[in-house]
Amino acid sequence: MSPIGVFDSGYGGLTVLKEFVRALPQYDFVYLGDNARTPYGTRSFDVVYRYTKEAVHALFEWGCPLVILACNTASAKALRSIQQRDLPLADPGKRVLGVIRPSVEAVGKLSVNRHIGILATAGTVASGSYPLEIEKLYGSGNYAVTQMACPLWVPLVESNELTGLGAEYFVRKYVDGLLEQDSQIDTVILGCTHYPLLTSQIARFLPAGVRLVEQGAIVAASLKEYLSRHTEMDALLDKGGQRTFLTTENAGQFAQMASLFMGSSVSARQISL
Ligand code: DGL
Repeated sequence: MSPIGVFDSGYGGLTVLKEFVRALPQYDFVYLGDNARTPYGTRSFDVVYRYTKEAVHALFEWGCPLVILACNTASAKALRSIQQRDLPLADPGKRVLGVIRPSVEAVGKLSVNRHIGILATAGTVASGSYPLEIEKLYGSGNYAVTQMACPLWVPLVESNELTGLGAEYFVRKYVDGLLEQDSQIDTVILGCTHYPLLTSQIARFLPAGVRLVEQGAIVAASLKEYLSRHTEMDALLDKGGQRTFLTTENAGQFAQMASLFMGSSVSARQISL
């Protein structure tokens, strides 16, 4: 078995997996949610790196030659060390990719006035990964990048509190906090896998004409393009359309939630990392 591994700290990465399945239906995928240790967004660099490394290792053991870190926080805090320090020594034939670079590549083309807003976890914001990637790709000072940490959005999504006054209050609070820093923003990236579940709420508080960018379809298009360029990797991957769901928490609870995300009945297996 050689599936593509997809990792997230919890349920949120299912928004990315859904787009992978839509873009690449013939491929086999294994999704791993570290639900027992979510959220990652408030944890330190060292902890996110250690947890992510354990999850990647588990997906390698599961037979994945390629793992996508669907989690922005893991992409921001662990990807570089895994790619540069760990893979060359331990698993030189395997690949681990993240979601920040493809998102930045896409968003640069979408913003007209070059004022970009990033809504993300506290960890992703503190890492500075989005502004750094934008600077690396488009040069220094060419884009005005404003970030806003939204620490209460992941708990809202994980507890399925997507509507109602409480959700509305906290959605508005962070959207306002972003726009107060730069009222000219014309493009906003949802820089966390969980936030697409709040898209309609977030859009309500953005001025008309501001573009809200979800990552799923962007990352899926980027993966498709990667596989067409890396035929040696593509040849390793199984294409039987199989989906496997792993969680570090209760399997029944995960399967219920994943079925909602995927729009079809899903069964899950609990593993420990
Ligand atoms: N999945 C994480 C991300 O995309 C957020 C959830 C968490 O804090 O664990 O950043």
